[in-house]
Amino acid sequence: MTDPKQERTFIAVKPDGVQRGLIGEIIKRFEARGYKMVAGKLIWAPKDLLKNHYKDLADKPFYNGLVEYMSSGPVFAMVWEGKEVVKMGRQMLGATNPLASMPGTIRGDFGIDVGRNICHGSDAVETARREIALWFKEEELSDYEFANKSWIY
Ligand code: TYD
Repeated sequence: MTDPKQERTFIAVKPDGVQRGLIGEIIKRFEARGYKMVAGKLIWAPKDLLKNHYKDLADKPFYNGLVEYMSSGPVFAMVWEGKEVVKMGRQMLGATNPLASMPGTIRGDFGIDVGRNICHGSDAVETARREIALWFKEEELSDYEFANKSWIY
């Protein structure tokens, strides 16, 4: 059973991250931190899905370009679980603009342009719920325990 205290977040390696071979690097960082992957898949997202995903940004000047960029190739979509994973996931990704991201964050280590910022992470627990339901079917989420969980936390 999933521990109800455990949060989940939606993390995606965007098309530029996939093209640059950063899927493994990003997975590695979440694994090393002690978080648990409960779903992961490579998906060339249809525009409808991307427009829905970014619907709150529909009136922004960068929206059309964002949807074009996100549909330019496959993304690696994931669900990660663990204590405060939504907030920590955002910290690990860095600021939206890579130039404002600290070294040590994914965007701060690998990015320059805001329009090619490598990865996505849900910004709140509620958003995560919506995004996970948008990208994954319930049966794609694996409910399992780490054997060594007790000494990671
Ligand atoms: P946003 O939801 O504000 O940021 P985040 O991804 O950190 O939650 O914006 C969504 C994406 O839109 C962002 O990752 C990159 C793109 N974007 C631009 O291309 N230009 C911009 O000026 C901003 C703010 C975002």
